[in-house]
Amino acid sequence: MKLHPRVGGEIGRPIMTSASNNGRLQPINLFEYEQLAKEHLSKMSLDYYSSGSGDEITLQDNRAAFARVKLRPRMLVDVSDRNLTTEVLGQSLQLPLLIAPMAFQCLAHPDGEIATAQAAASAGVGMVLSTLSTKSIEEVAAVREKLPNALQWFQLYIHKDRGLTRALVERAYAAGYKALCLTVDAPVLGRRERDQRNEFTLPPGLHLANITTLTGLDIPHEKGESGLFTYVAQQLNSAVTWRDLEWLQSLSPLPLVLKGILRGDDAVRAVEYGAKAIVVSNHGGRQLDGAIASLDALPEIIAAVDARAEVLLDGGIRRGTDILKALALGAKAVLIGRPALWGLAVAGQAGVSHLISLLHNELNVAMALSGCAQLQDIDSSLVKFLYL
Ligand SMILES: Cc1cc2nc3c(=O)[nH]c(=O)nc-3n(C[C@H](O)[C@H](O)[C@H](O)COP(=O)(O)O)c2cc1C
Repeated sequence: MKLHPRVGGEIGRPIMTSASNNGRLQPINLFEYEQLAKEHLSKMSLDYYSSGSGDEITLQDNRAAFARVKLRPRMLVDVSDRNLTTEVLGQSLQLPLLIAPMAFQCLAHPDGEIATAQAAASAGVGMVLSTLSTKSIEEVAAVREKLPNALQWFQLYIHKDRGLTRALVERAYAAGYKALCLTVDAPVLGRRERDQRNEFTLPPGLHLANITTLTGLDIPHEKGESGLFTYVAQQLNSAVTWRDLEWLQSLSPLPLVLKGILRGDDAVRAVEYGAKAIVVSNHGGRQLDGAIASLDALPEIIAAVDARAEVLLDGGIRRGTDILKALALGAKAVLIGRPALWGLAVAGQAGVSHLISLLHNELNVAMALSGCAQLQDIDSSLVKFLYL
């Protein structure tokens, strides 16, 4: 593995090589990647990536929710031949995993979203590209020239400028993205106090690769404020409602995925308004602090959707057993957010690839130990809530 210098700060100390890792051990789980990543990121970037909003109660609860769910493994099942492949919106995946949309990935590594996309595509997992990416829609789509079966979706933030929003959708469609993933939990940005304290902005040389209408600093540098908070307040449309989904769907034939649903009644409306998939998500605890943990919200949404759309989940997935629990509670697949950034920060594409392989192996073992040879064997009888 090749290391890269710190972006937007002083040169980071190389900590990992393909052969040895300079005498230090390679990470063997996602938490170890998180620890290593801290050595590669400036304080502003690390805080931006890791923080949640407010008191970070939801951020912590996303993890705690997985600990509250207990597994009930089946014994004496032939698990000698295991299959982790699945399909999401008709596209096949080597395991039920996508990389969640995350802004500003060039803060972690100069190759940014391209490295993430390459790692995801090579491993046969999906990737959702953020509207606020630091590599463009087209640059990331180009990864499919060598890996044409890669599942790539485009995540949309609806800007006040409808022309800009329309252009983003049209570009995503033209570039071959397979779904439009509308984030519905961010009419304004959550209060992330670490970003406010750091007066978060993009370092020189980085910009919003998809937003061509801005001049000057893409993300303003503001005294006493996060520049991203200001960007969202100034540029995104906080008046969007269900009715706008019709307009959105008229812009392209792409299937609509709604990301950020936390209630059964909203999930029903999503289906009624034509969503083909739902991502149960609280934005990794970065929006409404105190919002229900994604995993806790999942059963209500699965029941409400009643198989009329595919249901995915993100927030706090760090282990193969977390994926197992989410699937047992009805999710079709899960997304990881921050861990991908840790892999990217540590070793670029190779880091993300390795991290995906760790999750793959963990899920593989977790399935064997719970008596599941294939994903279809993972059902609700595998889990029990003990402390609700
Ligand atoms: C640094 C960072 C940037 C993010 N940017 C976006 C974004 O641009 N659009 C979006 O819909 N969600 C965004 N998210 C939320 C993720 O898509 C995802 O919901 C969340 O990270 C999942 O939780 P996890 O980090 O615990 O895996 C971002 C999350 C992080 C950590």
